[in-house]
Amino acid sequence: MPDKARLAAIKVLSQVLPADGNGRSLRDVMTQERGKLSPAERGLMMDLGYGVCRHYRLLDTWLASQMNKPLRASARAVHLALLCGLHELWFSRRPAHAVVNTWPDICRALKAPWAAGLVNAVLRKASTLNEMDVRSKMNPAQSWSLPDWLWLRLQQSWPSDAAHIAEHLCDTAPLTVRLQPAHADEVDQSLRDASLTVTRCDFAEYGRRIFPAHNVADLPGFAQGWLSVQDEAAQLPAVLLDVPPQGRVLDACAAPGGKTGQISELFPNADITALDVDGRRLKQVQENCERLGAQVTLLEGDAALPAQWWDEQPFDSVLMDVPCSATGIIRRQPDLKWHRREADIAALCGLQSRMLDAIWPLIKTGGTLVYATCSILPEENAEQVSAFLARQPDAREDTPVSARSVETSVGCQLLPQAGSHDGFYFARLRKR
Ligand SMILES: C[S@@+](CC[C@H](N)C(=O)[O-])C[C@H]1O[C@@H](n2cnc3c(N)ncnc32)[C@H](O)[C@@H]1O
Repeated sequence: MPDKARLAAIKVLSQVLPADGNGRSLRDVMTQERGKLSPAERGLMMDLGYGVCRHYRLLDTWLASQMNKPLRASARAVHLALLCGLHELWFSRRPAHAVVNTWPDICRALKAPWAAGLVNAVLRKASTLNEMDVRSKMNPAQSWSLPDWLWLRLQQSWPSDAAHIAEHLCDTAPLTVRLQPAHADEVDQSLRDASLTVTRCDFAEYGRRIFPAHNVADLPGFAQGWLSVQDEAAQLPAVLLDVPPQGRVLDACAAPGGKTGQISELFPNADITALDVDGRRLKQVQENCERLGAQVTLLEGDAALPAQWWDEQPFDSVLMDVPCSATGIIRRQPDLKWHRREADIAALCGLQSRMLDAIWPLIKTGGTLVYATCSILPEENAEQVSAFLARQPDAREDTPVSARSVETSVGCQLLPQAGSHDGFYFARLRKR
């Protein structure tokens, strides 16, 4: 019987990690394939797809050390089959003999019978080693599967924590949800009734971690909008918006709408505008708001060019959850490591500062702007906000302490924590 899950993982990975390096998003490709598999097959496909992206450099470095010459680009499927096999041997609990016997058959199903012997030999050798043996022969960037440029930046940004951060970026993240305040008790009870282990988040009042990880659409309360997937750190910035009754709020980079929904839950009487430059992604905001029953005005437009969409009515409060390197959420989107380029960082910083300058005049005197990123690079975070404060004499920092943050000149910087929140940054600024 064809091994549908493993073949699907190869299909996914060949689009996400193609030989030419121009891959698609893992999440998008997974979403396409999920529906074609049973729940158990889906679990294995996701395990392999996420796992190979997470440990890609470690797996590939070891594989290269075993080959006399690299496989041809046209044998990419075999190359990926080898990486999947190595991942299963070192990072899953499946018995080694079963893994070693499975992948040669997959090569035959991939119409590459010539590779069966090679795959068998490589996996047999790998089965005599474990993850620690392999790591011990590698440098930190290889061992923690980071591109060199990112490892270098982590060392420059966090000299004493870089190794720790790199290690945590290889973790799997817990399933964290946000409960609607009005239904929190009810949902807490239903989750317990469903025999799920639920723990409260440390800093986000309505944040809960759920074990074991679960298909969220099947969780009690999801269909009614009483529960949404959102990392704990991502739940913190919206709480800092200072919104008067019936106040006007702008969610300036809204899609897919995680924080838009949260704003509507926290400030049910607010007049909320959700802006995003990407019309397709704005549809996701609409779907999200419909599920939550949130009333929101959707606007397609560029936050750096308000003259094109602003109605001249000032805002009391603005959330700017800007596009960023997403280096704080690599645990959840490990393919980012292989898609992001170093040159992107300067371009993103430029866009972030243009957005800050363009949006600031739209805020009332006394109003607030909460700037947020899911980055752990200071140039997108504290350095970006410090430079803005230096340019804007009528802006002052006003970030309340709401989470355990590392030392920064301004705002609150969270680094990814094992079994807990992602890396994230936020700062609240107030107009004098
Ligand atoms: C980090 S995501 C926002 C996530 C969202 N706040 C949430 O919680 O679901 C950044 C968003 O900024 C949008 N974006 C990028 N450039 C933009 C621009 N110039 N103006 C407005 N939105 C922009 C992207 O389309 C993306 O949806």
